Order: sequence, then C-alpha cells, then structure tokens
Amino acid sequence: MKKDTQLSQLGREAANSVRTVNLPIHRASTVLFESVAEQRDIQRRWDADEQVPTYGIINMPGVLALENAVAEMEGGYRALTFPSGLAAVAGALLSCVKAGDHVLMPDSCYFPGRRFAEQFLPRYGVTTTFYEPTIGAGIAALMQPNTTVVYTESPGSHTFEMQDIPAIAKVAHAHGAKVIIDNAWATGYFFNAFEHGVDLVIQPATKYYSGHSDVLIGLVIANEATWPQLKSTTYDLGQRASPDDCYLTLRGMRTMGVRLRRHQESALVIAKWMEKRPEVKRVLYPALESHPGHALWKRDYTGAAGLFTVELHPVSDKQLAAMMDHYQHFALGYSWGGFESLVVTAHIARTVNALPSGPLVRYNIGLEDPDDLIRDLEAGFARLAA
Ligand SMILES: Cc1ncc(COP(=O)(O)O)c(C=O)c1O
Repeated sequence: MKKDTQLSQLGREAANSVRTVNLPIHRASTVLFESVAEQRDIQRRWDADEQVPTYGIINMPGVLALENAVAEMEGGYRALTFPSGLAAVAGALLSCVKAGDHVLMPDSCYFPGRRFAEQFLPRYGVTTTFYEPTIGAGIAALMQPNTTVVYTESPGSHTFEMQDIPAIAKVAHAHGAKVIIDNAWATGYFFNAFEHGVDLVIQPATKYYSGHSDVLIGLVIANEATWPQLKSTTYDLGQRASPDDCYLTLRGMRTMGVRLRRHQESALVIAKWMEKRPEVKRVLYPALESHPGHALWKRDYTGAAGLFTVELHPVSDKQLAAMMDHYQHFALGYSWGGFESLVVTAHIARTVNALPSGPLVRYNIGLEDPDDLIRDLEAGFARLAA
C-alpha cells in the first residue's frame, strides 16, 4: 500500500473488537455495506422502520442507544435526538403543524419556545394563542376547529404553575389535537407524561439526563401514533445530536435517579427554609404544601426536581444585585439540572397572567451540602439588607 492508502486504512479493524461496559463512540458519516444486496436490504428495513444504521444521521449505535433508553425512561414508544432542547421544542411543534393550523401554548412556557411560536411559526401560516397555564379542562373554550396542538409545560418555566395534564389531554383529544409536554423539570423519572395522556414529550436532556452542564442536547419522545410524523419531520430537517454528546448523556443518565433524589431532598429543605425568611413573599415550588398546584403535583408526580423560584418582597435593583452577585456557591447563569447550584433572575413574558410585584429569583439546588448552601443564602440576605 502507498502512504496515502495507508492513511485511509490503518487502525480501522480494531474499532469494535473490545467488549466494554459502555458503548464506544461511533463518529461517522458513512456506514459501509458488504454488498449491493446488503445495501438494498438495509434500505428496505429502514423504510420498514427497523432500527438499522444506513448513514451517520440514522440509527448509529450510540445515538440509538440513548434514544431507546430515554424513550423507555419517559414511557414512550420511540425517540429522536436533537442538537439542543430548544431544537427539540421546535421539532416537536413542527411535527404537528401545517399552514393554517392553530397552537395553544401556556403563558408560562420556556421563553425561547414561546418566541419560536410567536416569530417563526406565523411565517408558515401557523398561529398561536397563549393560555393561562392552570386552565385545566377550561381549555375547551380556546379550542378552534384548526387547533392541532395543545402544548404544555408543567410546572411552568420560572413561575412553576402546575398544569392538569389529564384534563387538558381529554379536551385536546376530543378535538383531534395532539398534546405536547416539555418534561424537563420532572423527567420521566418523576412524571410519566404518556400515562397522563400526552402524545409527544420534549426532553431537554441538557438538564437532568446529562446532568453535568457540559452538553447541549434534546430529545423528542413519541407514542406509537405520533412516531411516523416525528420521524419524517426530524429527518426532513436533518436533525441529530452528535455521538459524543449522546455518549455523555447516556453516561449522565446512569446517575440521574441518585442525583434527582438528592436534588429533591436538598431543594425541599431549602425551599422550606426560604418560606420562613422575612425577605421572601412566596416560594414557587410544587412540592411545598403552600403551592397552589400542590394537590395536582401529588396526584400525578412521584417527586420534585431541584429547581424553584422565590418571589421577594420589593427591593431595589442595587439590593438584588448585592445579594446575587456575591454568592459563593450559587453561580449566576442560565440553564439548570447540572450538579452545581445556580441562580438567575426570572425572565418572563406574559400576555395572560399578571406579573408578580417583587423580583423573581430562580434557584437550581445542586448536589452540594445543603448546610453550605443555606449559609450562602443567609449571607446573601444579609447583603440585601445592608
Ligand atoms: C424548560 C426548558 N425547556 C427547554 C430548554 C431548552 O434546552 P436547551 O438549553 O438544551 O436548548 C430549557 C433550557 O433552559 C428549559 O429550561
């Protein structure tokens, strides 16, 4: 072999020869076939919806392993990966709409998803009405003949309203509409959305599944009826997460249960502590008995994540900054669901609900010792008062 041929050939035979606990990362565009007959056979099996790899974007082992694992954890039929949670939000919506359709979306949903509905969908003839998230069966009054999607997110981003998903699903299905949920907060570990009537689950696995703040990835999980439309839309858009990110997410998923239980335990201790603070007007955390959606949470969920919002009594921006700028353990930044504690001011847009009177501060309670976190929060309140 000449050097240039060697450069193409060397080291490839060893790729799959070792049995390891975790799957190797397959970085690939091209999947090789033994023969024309095999190429045709694999193509036929792919057309018949078998999980065979045909090309780098389709059914590569590590990506497929994650998709199947998450589909099972969420209680769905099949799943596909996206390069971010937001791409999964867009992909789920696009798989359910066509020009002329109408979408219902909760007023409290993740803001960039809302922006997608407000700015992007109208360019393709799809309109959206935002609804009060605790509307429940009252959603019937907002259904239009062309409503094809009722989008949900429970609890709501930043303001943590619990939604009555079974009641909403009953109405939506009676009108022939699909129900989508962004299940980032609870994950399938704490809430089986499919058992509560949802058709498509969005899982921004950037959060709890990957769990270490080093991956951007999303998945959409479908039930059997919505799988064909999710599959065709996703591949038409050329969406897929990288094999490296799928590897990290599957790795993170191994410890998700342990992490979630610890997040819950610490968040509950800290949320209860927060409730007693004179600076705090309300703690928006569904696991607290004081939360207006507590009964719904108890009925439908088996646990609570480590993310909640605190509404403070009115303070100046200077006081708020004094508190938030100098935490030792609560770094200031977007996202959540990682091992580390974070804090951020709430970023909300409202058309239906009134805005709260005091500032909203969202806390991601990480895996640190809760005693250290409480000391940090206590020092923050002291700075705010000073
Ligand atoms: C509720 C919710 N959905 C979706 C997303 C989007 O996920 P990603 O950051 O992976 O795009 C986020 C991100 O913060 C989120 O909080």
